[in-house]
Amino acid sequence: LKKIRIPHLHQMKARGERWAMLTAYDQLSAAVFDAAGIPVLLVGDSAANNVYGHSTTLPVTLDELIPLVRAVAGAASHALVVADLPFGSYQGSPQQAFESAVRLMKEGLAHAVKLEGGAAMAPTVRLLTDAGIPVMAHIGFTPQSEHTLGGYRVQGRGENAQSLVDDALALQEAGAFSLVMEMVPAPAAGAVTKALDIPTVGIGAGPDCDAQVLVWTDMAGFTDHPAGKTPRFVKKYADLRGILTQAAQEYARDVRHGTFPAPEHSFEE
Ligand code: KIV
Ligand code: NA
Repeated sequence: LKKIRIPHLHQMKARGERWAMLTAYDQLSAAVFDAAGIPVLLVGDSAANNVYGHSTTLPVTLDELIPLVRAVAGAASHALVVADLPFGSYQGSPQQAFESAVRLMKEGLAHAVKLEGGAAMAPTVRLLTDAGIPVMAHIGFTPQSEHTLGGYRVQGRGENAQSLVDDALALQEAGAFSLVMEMVPAPAAGAVTKALDIPTVGIGAGPDCDAQVLVWTDMAGFTDHPAGKTPRFVKKYADLRGILTQAAQEYARDVRHGTFPAPEHSFEE
């Protein structure tokens, strides 16, 4: 496995090779995904939900994300590590975004940052890119704006599909190296992917993106989605929640029964 750099992602788009991105928030999971050949790891602000237990991504702060970014970056020998700019850390001005992105790279050792928003974020993307900070953009459903958008809803339906293309082109023009599209109709995501030279990364955006991303705890069946509430775009590749539950229950039962620790787990005089 080679070290993944941004030019490799562009080469893969040119060759028509699809790739997978996963979130990671800690050293153990990051090392597993890195060794498994996942080329891009995202320390998402979904850490708000998956690490800190919030019900939206809004409360997580730079100070809370940076140690997670550093743990993931330290565990990644091959993967490119992208860190989310959390809500409130970049929307104020391009200068604020610059200062926050520098913290993610200087203190968190991220290789790139991600931010949410369409054409309105182009000046910010331009400033960061000119400063040598690679930016992954994120359009469609943008969770940090859920109170404006009115909850988790598919974006870019009908005549709004064109504004998706316009936003994507503006972000590419401003220097973004890649673009996440979340919860947009598959044909619209395909049209954006075709219109762009930079790779698109879909989540709930159909099969015609250059890459896909899932939250790792969703992908591995670790998230505690209430019955019937798993998002449509999630595919569960394992039942980690079931495996861990069973392990914890067996361990507790062994302790209660006195069958753990056994002689082989104990030290002799
Ligand atoms: O924070 C996150 O997990 C994300 C991905 C879903 C793209 O932004
Ligand atoms: Na995010």
